[in-house]
Amino acid sequence: MRRFYNHFFILLLFVSTTVKAQNPVWTEVAPGVWKTIVGVPDKFDLLKAAGVLPNKEALSKLGKAGLPLAENGIVAEVTDGRTFLRFPLVKGEQLYGFGLNFKTVQQRGKILQLHVDHYGGTDNGRTHAPVPFYISDRGYGVFVNSARYITVYAGTAVRRDSPEAPNPRDRNTDKKWSSQPYSDAVEMVVPTTGTEIYLFAGPTPLDAVRRFNLFNGGGCLPPRWGLGFTQRVKLLFTADQVIEEARAFAEKGYPLDFIGLEPGWQSKSYPCTFEWDKTRFPDPAGFVKTMKEMGIRLNLWTNPYVSSESPMYQQIKPLTGSHTVWGGAVADLTMPEAQKIMVGQMGKDQVSIGVSGYKIDECDGYDRWLWPDVAKFPSGNSAEQLRQTYGVLLQKMTTDLYRQQNSRTYGLVRASNAGGSSFPYVIYNDYYSHEDFITALINSSFAGVLWTPEVRGSKTGEEWVRRMQTVCFSPMAMINAWSDGTKPWSFPEVEKEVKAIALLRMQLMPYFYTEFAKYHFEGTPPFRAMNLEPGFGSMQSAELKNANLSENPYLEAVSKEVKDQYMAGEYLLVAPLFKGQNERTVILPKGKWFDFYTGKLAGDGEVIKVTAGLDKIPVFVRDGGIVPLMPPLLHAPAAGQKIDLEIRIYGSKTGSYRLYDDDGETFDYEKGACSWRVLSVASDKKGKLAGNISKAEKGKPDNIGKVTWKMMTE
Ligand code: GAL
Repeated sequence: MRRFYNHFFILLLFVSTTVKAQNPVWTEVAPGVWKTIVGVPDKFDLLKAAGVLPNKEALSKLGKAGLPLAENGIVAEVTDGRTFLRFPLVKGEQLYGFGLNFKTVQQRGKILQLHVDHYGGTDNGRTHAPVPFYISDRGYGVFVNSARYITVYAGTAVRRDSPEAPNPRDRNTDKKWSSQPYSDAVEMVVPTTGTEIYLFAGPTPLDAVRRFNLFNGGGCLPPRWGLGFTQRVKLLFTADQVIEEARAFAEKGYPLDFIGLEPGWQSKSYPCTFEWDKTRFPDPAGFVKTMKEMGIRLNLWTNPYVSSESPMYQQIKPLTGSHTVWGGAVADLTMPEAQKIMVGQMGKDQVSIGVSGYKIDECDGYDRWLWPDVAKFPSGNSAEQLRQTYGVLLQKMTTDLYRQQNSRTYGLVRASNAGGSSFPYVIYNDYYSHEDFITALINSSFAGVLWTPEVRGSKTGEEWVRRMQTVCFSPMAMINAWSDGTKPWSFPEVEKEVKAIALLRMQLMPYFYTEFAKYHFEGTPPFRAMNLEPGFGSMQSAELKNANLSENPYLEAVSKEVKDQYMAGEYLLVAPLFKGQNERTVILPKGKWFDFYTGKLAGDGEVIKVTAGLDKIPVFVRDGGIVPLMPPLLHAPAAGQKIDLEIRIYGSKTGSYRLYDDDGETFDYEKGACSWRVLSVASDKKGKLAGNISKAEKGKPDNIGKVTWKMMTE
């Protein structure tokens, strides 16, 4: 009898986890967001790790939208304990995303295995944020909500029954023979018995990205100081050395909002004790206070591996995995009790005395030192699932800790995944290729994550200034001097230029802060790919389809991979220069574009050549650009501090820009303590442009002092 039950049970399991190839049924779960469940999904997935709620109100502003892909083109099957998925592609369609890639933007034709890891120099799916989400230039997004190592064939394989299966060609005689014949589908293997899938409607690729971000709670809104400048000091700096460093910044007139302490603040690291080293930092509370009085906040490095000498070790030990990392225990952070112990230590020892944030290192890879896939965790979740979500779990747990204090944080993390958009963390790594760092910045906008092209050292002043220029046009303006102690003024020959770009970063704070508010409230990535601009990449457009590309350099350029220029907010297009370059080409989208510095017309729907000395990073402004600048302060304005604005107007278009404001520090904006002032530009009777700012609303934050308008284009 018992045997019968055993067999019956096995049969039942087999039946329930086997799904014949079929077209899934979709339900609209939020406006323009469609969901299906295939087979029997894991109990733990990416969205559960993140545990955030969709911003349904903002999603409804984007409007309802039908299923963005033909239902009968999507096929799912569960067999052999694995889930097989297929999504259709049409001719000329291009794909973006699949996480934080560093070398390529266009993903059609790639084979990837999405696996959290330190990026190793190849876009093969192993990266810091291997988000299983892709965007099509036809204006939709696909997200597979599984914390497994998903294998993706992004338009590489040809099915026998494919309606578009290419005819075989004879390689002996046919010049058109190809080793990779045309494929009309994205296919995936999810190595488990089922998964949730989400489709995000457009109509534009940017709308699909917005819906994805809003579905994940909206992008993060950093505290205002997070958008200032940050310096990470050398490994073993003492409290006195850190104070001295902050003084040097002030004396030399360089902006500085927060300093990052590297492993030496802890009594032991690799694995970590999560407590201050009392020889280097004898009075942590006094030190944090002194720094605050100088206008400087502190960010602390840590990795998550718990030393047996940590005060929390005995308590957390039963909640850790079977394997160690550098001898440290790996907490099963899928368990709320384990999270509680870890943030308990951080809260008591650091956050309660005023530490403003963390840099959470080593939660990504490498395989040789991380826990292996055979590791066991007390929750019963697999080693693979923990690997895919560890960065997200760490971000969530620390974000919640700061939320409990009603204090916003902004930090760094080396791993993330889908669901993490709303966590105030920026990804970084040790890879240090300037060009690839910019491609990663571009790709971050398809993945719902933030990335900083951090600056460490440089061989020459020229390289130094070029790197500083791009980091100042990124989510976190940072020097990471943990190893070599470089300072912004380390290259005297470009000191003036470096200071100018750091101060420009400060001047742009009202603009960047507003663009982050749009990330939060509307889902629009603040730094993003040109392919999220209309007209880029889409071979679908009749214009591109019919064009003779070799005779039209502009159309040829927009159809190709664009991985070295990007949008910074609504109006600015940034075209970095790299070492050894003093000129480059820039693709200016359709519509007039103006030079940021001079206001002069630069072009309209064309590829231009620009030359720039070391004092400039080429930046262009869209026609009608309204760019609010504040004075070049050395620290972000404090809550309630009145700030004068110079509002620059570019081109001749009339229009308006909504300037965001709040106290810059707390979560009170969620209860309505925020304002959107309308900056509008209209033409007077004589056709001359004039600007106007709407009145401050009663009872709302009002930090704007004197306003001057500057017409940049005569
Ligand atoms: C690396 C990290 C660096 C620095 C260093 C300190 O893993 O990427 O930014 O923090 O550790 O040991």
